[in-house]
Amino acid sequence: MATSPHTHLLQNPNHLLKSPTTHNNAFPVTSVRTMSNTSGRSISIKCVAPTTTPTQDRPYVPTQSQDRVFNFAAGPATLPENVLRKAQSELYDWRGCGMSVMEMSHRGKEFLSIIQKAEADLRTLLDIPEEYAVLFLQGGATTQFAAIPLNLVNPDDPVDYLVTGSWGDKAFKEAQKYSKAKVIWSGKSEKYTKIPSFDALEQSPDAKYLHICANETIHGVEFKDYPTPKNPNGVLIADMSSNFCSKPVDVSKFGVIYAGAQKNVGPAGVTIVIIRKDLIGNVQGVTPVMLDYKIQSENNSLYNTPPCFCIYMCGLVFEDLLEQGGLKEVEKKNKKKAEILYNAIDESNGFYRCPVEKSVRSLMNVPFTLEKSELEAEFIKEAAKEKMVQLKGHRSVGGMRASIYNAMPLAGVEKLEAFMKDFQVRHA
Ligand SMILES: Cc1ncc(COP(=O)(O)O)c(C=O)c1O
Repeated sequence: MATSPHTHLLQNPNHLLKSPTTHNNAFPVTSVRTMSNTSGRSISIKCVAPTTTPTQDRPYVPTQSQDRVFNFAAGPATLPENVLRKAQSELYDWRGCGMSVMEMSHRGKEFLSIIQKAEADLRTLLDIPEEYAVLFLQGGATTQFAAIPLNLVNPDDPVDYLVTGSWGDKAFKEAQKYSKAKVIWSGKSEKYTKIPSFDALEQSPDAKYLHICANETIHGVEFKDYPTPKNPNGVLIADMSSNFCSKPVDVSKFGVIYAGAQKNVGPAGVTIVIIRKDLIGNVQGVTPVMLDYKIQSENNSLYNTPPCFCIYMCGLVFEDLLEQGGLKEVEKKNKKKAEILYNAIDESNGFYRCPVEKSVRSLMNVPFTLEKSELEAEFIKEAAKEKMVQLKGHRSVGGMRASIYNAMPLAGVEKLEAFMKDFQVRHA
């Protein structure tokens, strides 16, 4: 691989961070390094100290350990390093109870305190109104594609789907089995790069709900605002799997929000459903017991054995997000990270391209292609050598995709930006 002015930095992303001398009070200082590339343009690389305050019970956490990669995977995705370390420190013996979370009864007081705290913290984070239930379920967001129509409508009821990417399309196909589902708009012919103007939508007047995928993980298309169902008795339903807790959301605009945890809030295995309580209780007769929101809600998500460890991990992530100052602060960081990558793409004179219309570009998943597509494999290979992994685009669209969920540190995005510029200099 040819070297360039960025090579040293790429190989030593954290070399400017001071080592802590104690565990309690010596976080690394923020440091800025300015370098110039071969075209003479300055590039600042900033190594940023963690934003959480160290506490006695929380181990010291560096910005990014030298032994960890920057993982740009779409999900399962990178988790906050301090959350992983906290889980590690509690793994063997959870808070002196003599066993790990994986071993304890889901009906015991220890686990009840874990799930109740996770729910309370999520309610605080998203400011979830009292009239909404929070469920921790299994089966992934894919199971919700069926559970939604099964719980909310009869087989002959009309429901609308606004399809802005592959996940919305999958949700629609599943809903067809249990309702009279209709696609009222699809971005497929334009390769899922747009969201339509809401005024132009031809919603069914009596649709029981309007379903959207708030962030299309594969195509990188994100709603910045939400449509209102035309039917005054209809509700808006959103699959928020890939932008859940990445920004504040007015929950009261929705009948149901659901999200698989494994992108922004935890490991794969738990799916969070936030549902307005008056929508619960009208389930279709054929619905399996596990998909019945009434049963799950009456049993506080403990009808059967829940994914205990996953719920515990989500709880740690929620605590971490609250410690960061809540979702407004988290959104600011996410905007900054996304801006860095989109600017790198837009300022590359066409060397990199993002096909998504600018106004609806995702803050979470940044898809891009190379003008010289024959270089894409080389890009991914070289990035991996620099410890930036999982940058390959989804197999259905190709190119590259950088998923930069909440837990992706700014340093990871800056390192990718520096790498993109360096790669361009060497291959333009
Ligand atoms: C937006 C969205 N919805 C649904 C799914 C399916 O989630 P699961 O694999 O948890 O069923 C995914 C998975 O990546 C997704 O990104």
